[in-house]
Amino acid sequence: MTLYCEELALSGLAEQFGTPLYVYSQQALTDAYRAYTDAFGSDTLLCYAVKANGNLSILRHFASLGSGFDIVSGGELERVLAAGGDAGKTIFSGVGKSEAEIEYALEAGIKCFNVESLPELDRINSIAARLGRRAPISLRINPDVDAQTHPYISTGLKANKFGIAMDDAEQAYRYAAGLPHLHIRGIDCHIGSQLTQSEPLIEACERLLALIDRLSEQGIALEHLDLGGGIGIVYQNETTLDLAAYADTVKRLLGGRSLKLILEPGRSLVGNAGVLLTRVEFVKSNGDKQFVIVDAAMNDLMRPALYQAYHHIENAEAVDTSPFTADIVGPVCETGDFFARDREIAAQAGDLLVIRSAGAYAASMGSNYNARLKPAEVLVNGREAKLVRRRETQQQLMQNELDCL
Ligand code: LLP
Repeated sequence: MTLYCEELALSGLAEQFGTPLYVYSQQALTDAYRAYTDAFGSDTLLCYAVKANGNLSILRHFASLGSGFDIVSGGELERVLAAGGDAGKTIFSGVGKSEAEIEYALEAGIKCFNVESLPELDRINSIAARLGRRAPISLRINPDVDAQTHPYISTGLKANKFGIAMDDAEQAYRYAAGLPHLHIRGIDCHIGSQLTQSEPLIEACERLLALIDRLSEQGIALEHLDLGGGIGIVYQNETTLDLAAYADTVKRLLGGRSLKLILEPGRSLVGNAGVLLTRVEFVKSNGDKQFVIVDAAMNDLMRPALYQAYHHIENAEAVDTSPFTADIVGPVCETGDFFARDREIAAQAGDLLVIRSAGAYAASMGSNYNARLKPAEVLVNGREAKLVRRRETQQQLMQNELDCL
């Protein structure tokens, strides 16, 4: 079977643009976005989490669909604005916002800062005072629920660095209400990523709603509830949660409260809209063990090395060779440089392999380890393939190292 992205054979794209190559489907991006708007309705603000994939063309596409953005750095804000995103629909998350980033975001007129600590409240208040503004803020509350996902991407437990503890939340809101250059807009949480069950999300929502009611009794009225991102995708054979059922439950829990709902999905909007194409360099065996060595590596897609994450891998073309069990590895000099271990694969040198579910936290987490160049990226729309990121050059890699050039 020949594999396609929309109407284009992946093998043709690899020939045209070279490998390793990221390929994204515009239709899949649109479909994933529509799944949210269908489930939640148009009055819920979707703020795409830029960190999942910050390619400017992808941001532009989401902006054209009406999306807002969730950013975690000044750099991500610059990308959103460069891609035509609306600052007024952009929220700024993260535990360590610098003074320069806060000033930049305030001047740009973002919708809200998701604040994670009291010192951050002070910092935003004093910058807003200096600029003669009132900064819109929400407090990220840590609801202390177990997201039941990989410990590195679980963020809603007391032991995590994120957010303000539930027990301290009311006091933190009272403190914020006393700061003259802040405007309290809402509340937010984000309990983790790649969640495959709705229960932890719903539990977090219930805890936040109870807090919202307690705050309202104290005269602190909130305009929005932001439930973060975290909805998982199918990498292997996971059953993921039903978006429509989740939406219905959340809406029922909101009841008659006049709260605008905000979500910050990342992975579920882009993860399965992208693949990484890689060419087999060699097949070799060390004793009993077989290795398929490909031209992509951990620097291009580090999820397997970092989280032992599963990515489905298959040959882009039908082949006569019979499948065998092998580790699929890259050329980087680290034992951790693998995409799959003990995987059934039919492949020989020269074949093109497709690493699936590579739209999220793949290109965006890439590095230049081993002086490897960031891959090119292509966005496919029907029969059209648009190069949306050129392959990096060694000259670009070296250009900041002036002394010896
Ligand atoms: N909002 C906040 C505050 C976040 O920290 C994140 C992700 C999101 C939204 C989006 O979550 P999503 O819908 O994508 O689950 N590199 C890891 C994932 C790290 C997630 C970090 N925060 C991975 O490759 O699995």
